[in-house]
Amino acid sequence: MRIGVPKEIVPGERRVALSPETCGKLVKAGVEVMVEAGAGAPSYFSDEDYRRVGGTVESDTAAVFGGAAFLLKVQPPVTNAFHGKHEVDLMRTASYFLTTLYPTRNVDAVRRLAERNVTAFAADAFPRTTRAQTMDVLSSMANIAGYKGVIIAADELAKYFPMFMTAAGTVFAAKVFVIGAGVAGLQAIATARRLGATVEATDTRPVVKEQVESVGGKFVGVQASESAQDERGYAKELSKEFYEKQAMLIGERCAANDVVITTALIGGVKAPKLITEDMVAKMKPGSVIVDLAAEGGGNCTLSEPGSTVEKYGVRICAPLNLPSSMPLHASTLYSRNLGAFVTAFLKDKNFVFDPHDEIQKGCLITHGGQVVHEATKAAMGTA
Ligand code: NAI
Repeated sequence: MRIGVPKEIVPGERRVALSPETCGKLVKAGVEVMVEAGAGAPSYFSDEDYRRVGGTVESDTAAVFGGAAFLLKVQPPVTNAFHGKHEVDLMRTASYFLTTLYPTRNVDAVRRLAERNVTAFAADAFPRTTRAQTMDVLSSMANIAGYKGVIIAADELAKYFPMFMTAAGTVFAAKVFVIGAGVAGLQAIATARRLGATVEATDTRPVVKEQVESVGGKFVGVQASESAQDERGYAKELSKEFYEKQAMLIGERCAANDVVITTALIGGVKAPKLITEDMVAKMKPGSVIVDLAAEGGGNCTLSEPGSTVEKYGVRICAPLNLPSSMPLHASTLYSRNLGAFVTAFLKDKNFVFDPHDEIQKGCLITHGGQVVHEATKAAMGTA
C-alpha cells in the first residue's frame, strides 16, 4: 500500500500530516510513503529527511494524490488554485483518506468525498477511548493551544506573571482565570502556574475539580442540578438557571483577575457565549482575554476570530489555528496520532477496512459513495 502526503495549501497552515519520524516507522512496517516535495518545509523537515528514512519525494501534486491508496492530510480538502481542481478530485476513487475533517462544518468537502467514492475518516472524531488514546489528535492539538494561549497572554499583559521582590519593591503575581478545564484549559493552568501566576478555573463538569487542583489551580464553580456531561464525556447544554448563576460567577472572576483564558466548548464543537460586553467593561484596564474557543465562534461576545482588539482597556485575543504556530512539535505529535491509527489496522502491509471496529466506526464519515456519519448527515439535512 502507498501512503500519500501532500503539501498543505490552506493559508497559514504550517503543519504536515507525516513527520520523517513516523514516515520511517511506516516504511519499516512495509508501507510505501510518497511525500510532496517541500511538504515538510514549514515544519522544518527537509525532503532529504524523508528520503533518509525510506520515503520517496514527488514534486507533482497530482501524482501524490492520484498515486495514494491512503492519503493523509492536516486540513479538510479545498480547491487547489494551481491545478484549478478541488483536492478531492485529485484523489484516487475508492482510496482511503484521513484528516482533521470537522465534517459537520465542512459538508461540501464531505459531499465531494462521497461522490468520489473515497472512504474518509475524520481524525477529530476518533473515539476518546483508552484503545484510541495514542490517536487522540484533539488532545495533542488542544495541549498546544492551551500552552500557546498563556504565552500570548503573558506577551500581551502589561504586567509580570511571577511575583518579584526587587530593590524598587515587590510586584505581585498575575492572577489568571481559566474558563473550561478540558485538555486545553488544564494545560493553560499548568503553563500559567509554571510562569508564576496564581490560577483559578471553572467548568460545568464538576469532575474536573480534582484535575484543576492536581495542576496547581483553584476550582471555582456553580453546582449544576442536572448531569453536566453526555455519554462521551463532553459538556452538555445546561439550563437557563444554571447559565444565569454561572454568568454572575464569571463576571465577578473576570473583574478580579488580570488574565482570562477561555476554552469552553459544548459537544466538542460549539462555543457558548460566556463573557459579555458588560463583563469586559468591568475588567481592570490592562487585562487580557485569550479566547481559545475562537474557532467555534468564541466565548467572548467581543472576540473577533483571527484578531486582537482592545475594548474598554482590555486586550481581547482570538487566535485561530494555534497548533500551526508551533509546527515542529504540532506535526510531530499529529503524525504520531495518525500513524497510530494506520498501523493499528495494518495487515500484510495493507490497511484493513472494518466498519464494525469501534474506532473506525466512530470516525468513518464517507464510504461506498455515501455519507455514513449520523451527525454529518444531520448537518447536511439528509439524516
Ligand atoms: P472540549 O474542548 O470539548 O471543551 C472544553 C471544556 O469546556 C470542557 O471541559 C467543557 O466541560 C468545558 N465547558 C463547556 N461549557 C462550559 C461552560 N459554560 N463553562 C465552563 N466550561 C465549559 O473538551 P476536551 O478537552 O476535548 O474534553 C472533552 C471530554 O473528553 C472530557 O470529558 C475529557 O475528559 C475527555 N477526554 C478523554 C480522553 C481519553 O483519552 N479518554 C482524552 C481527552 C479528553
